[in-house]
Amino acid sequence: MTKDFLTLADWSREDLYSLLDLAAELKQKQKEGTPHRLLEGQTLGMIFEKSSTRTRVSFEVGMFQLGGHGLFLSSGATQMGRGEPIKDTARVMARYCDGVMIRTFEHRIVEEFAEWSYVPVINGLTDLSHPCQLMADLMTVREHKGTLDGLSYCWIGDGNNMANSWINAATVFGFELRIATPKGYEPDAGVLERANKAGAKLILTNDPREAAEGVDVLNTDVWASMGQEAEQKEREKAFAGFQINGELLKLAAPEAVVMHCLPAHRNEEITDEVIEGPHSIIFDEAENRLHAQKAIMATLMAR
Ligand code: CP
Ligand code: NVA
Repeated sequence: MTKDFLTLADWSREDLYSLLDLAAELKQKQKEGTPHRLLEGQTLGMIFEKSSTRTRVSFEVGMFQLGGHGLFLSSGATQMGRGEPIKDTARVMARYCDGVMIRTFEHRIVEEFAEWSYVPVINGLTDLSHPCQLMADLMTVREHKGTLDGLSYCWIGDGNNMANSWINAATVFGFELRIATPKGYEPDAGVLERANKAGAKLILTNDPREAAEGVDVLNTDVWASMGQEAEQKEREKAFAGFQINGELLKLAAPEAVVMHCLPAHRNEEITDEVIEGPHSIIFDEAENRLHAQKAIMATLMAR
């Protein structure tokens, strides 16, 4: 039985706080140059069925800093890409590797992989969720605001994998999350149902201004995610007005921070001015992928 990292909803608030604390500790060590080779001699297999800059680089560098090795596998160059069953790939990789990270399309693929794997499996993004990004996001909010509690958060844009992950975070940590999407682009119904059953403080609206009013943390993401490129034009019409710009930011709390998981389509879902402006914590957020994931790997893969 291994512990996997597939969605935040599978983890308790206490365990997620332990990961965030460890991430801060490892960040400090890395900045000071203090060795922290917690995964000496271990290997993380990294399967990518979609493109990546941050996820690939931060996992690979993170494993190196922990004294181990990150092995990049593009699915197209493996037998998995030629149809080898997931249950076979999972068992074989577990014979060589100490952990596996997967970025893929259907969430069911990481679940099936984890069912068959003897080593921990980490979700590096699926169509449904992006939990590693959320750990970096929460770490960044904590750094800038000192706490996750007592703040209001909003999501502006597509009800996609990042929106679903913010809903899971709001559920586990108990903070208020307002979600503004165009009609027809709401977050996943199953994620919403689970969150509502667990008493999450969610406000769903189709008005970005309502979501942004007095809020402390603003979040957005691209209008068309990986795999939805053909819908780009149609989505540009549907999402017009769902942009984090100077005007929307004026409605938020004076010290509000703005986040984006990147890559961004500048001047679509967020303006260039906001990304580069004083409220943006976007590049700290990108950096924290490294530290948050080191904490996840060190915890899951500890011997
Ligand atoms: N935010 C994020 O996951 O970026 P990449 O797609 O570059 O990995
Ligand atoms: N929602 C985006 C996130 C990219 C990190 C996508 O899935 O393409």
